[in-house]
Amino acid sequence: MKIENYTLEGKMLPIFTYPEPVLTQVAKPVEVFDSKLETLVRDMLYTMYHAPGIGLAAPQIGESLRLFVVDVDYDRDEVELKNGETEMEFSNLNPMVFINPVFTKKTGSTVFKEGCLSVPEVYEEVTRSELVTVEYQDLKGNKLTLEADELLSICLQHENDHLDGIVFIDRLSPLKKKFFKTKLIKEKKRI
Ligand code: CO
Repeated sequence: MKIENYTLEGKMLPIFTYPEPVLTQVAKPVEVFDSKLETLVRDMLYTMYHAPGIGLAAPQIGESLRLFVVDVDYDRDEVELKNGETEMEFSNLNPMVFINPVFTKKTGSTVFKEGCLSVPEVYEEVTRSELVTVEYQDLKGNKLTLEADELLSICLQHENDHLDGIVFIDRLSPLKKKFFKTKLIKEKKRI
């Protein structure tokens, strides 16, 4: 659900990249809905907007918890300040948080070229369901339902995969999957 009265405050969290173990684990349900959870969500949104990305799941910042944030609507522009420096200006923010999400309906099929903050520099077409219905909880623990299509539907499915220890390259053909995984592991060893 949309977070009301959102202000872009928070801190940048480190983004974990494949093959960090937290990205391949099944995350645990969120059980405590407190101010610590609110801070985590605020920092995850801040990190998502500045990365930048349109979705960020808790395992991507090293927290093995079933929650993710999403915004498929916002714009981000670099503006020049009077002193010659530049800064990022955000508009049309539509921050959403999904806690303990479960898909209750998935229909149709659609193909979209996806990328992921945890899988740098890989962009590949993935087949997903076209329409989804998701049941989830908000920051207060209230149970809600949302039907989604288009980019939001794709994004929800991509982020939910992170909660099950699945990265989008797992959804590619066995040959492509092996190619990218080997490449990413090699690149990681180099640093
Ligand atoms: Co991702």
